[in-house]
Amino acid sequence: MANKYSLTVNGQKHEIESDPDTPLLYILRNDLKLKGTKFGCGGGVCGACTVIMDGLAIFSCDTPIWSIDDKKIETIEGISQDGIHPLQELLIDEQAGQCGYCLSGIIMKVKAITDDDPTKSVDDIANELDRNLCRCGSQLRILNAVKKYLDGKSSR
Ligand code: FES
Ligand code: FES
Repeated sequence: MANKYSLTVNGQKHEIESDPDTPLLYILRNDLKLKGTKFGCGGGVCGACTVIMDGLAIFSCDTPIWSIDDKKIETIEGISQDGIHPLQELLIDEQAGQCGYCLSGIIMKVKAITDDDPTKSVDDIANELDRNLCRCGSQLRILNAVKKYLDGKSSR
C-alpha cells in the first residue's frame, strides 16, 4: 500500500507517494529523475548508490523510504549547483575515472567524511572507502585526487 513521505533533496522539498519498502535509490532515479546516483549491486555491497542523509553517507539502495521520512538528502547533483565541486575538478585533473560508475558514490562518501571532520588524512579516507568499490582499478588516482582535495582544504 502506498503511503505519503516527505523528503528534502538538494534543498528542495518533495512529497512522495510510495510503497514503504521502496529504496531511496529508486525514488531518486525514477521519481525525481536524479540519475547521478548509480545502481550498482542493489544489495548494499558496492557503494555506487552512496548519498548523504543528514550529514551521514548511506547506501540508498538498501535504505527504504519509510526509514527516512522528513530527512535531508544530498545527491551528486546537489554538490554542483553553484558550479563544479573542487573534488570533481581534481578527479578530472587526475583522470581518475575510467567508466566513472563508482565516482558519484565515492565523491559523496568523501564529502560526508570531510564535512564531518576536515582533519581526516588520506589514509583514514582510504579505509573508510573500503566499501566503495572501483572495478576499473582507479583507486590510486582517486586517492591522489582526494589527497589534493585535503591539501587544498587545509590551506584555505
Ligand atoms: S548499489 Fe547500493 S551498495 Fe551497490
Ligand atoms: S572508474 Fe569504473 S568503477 Fe571506478
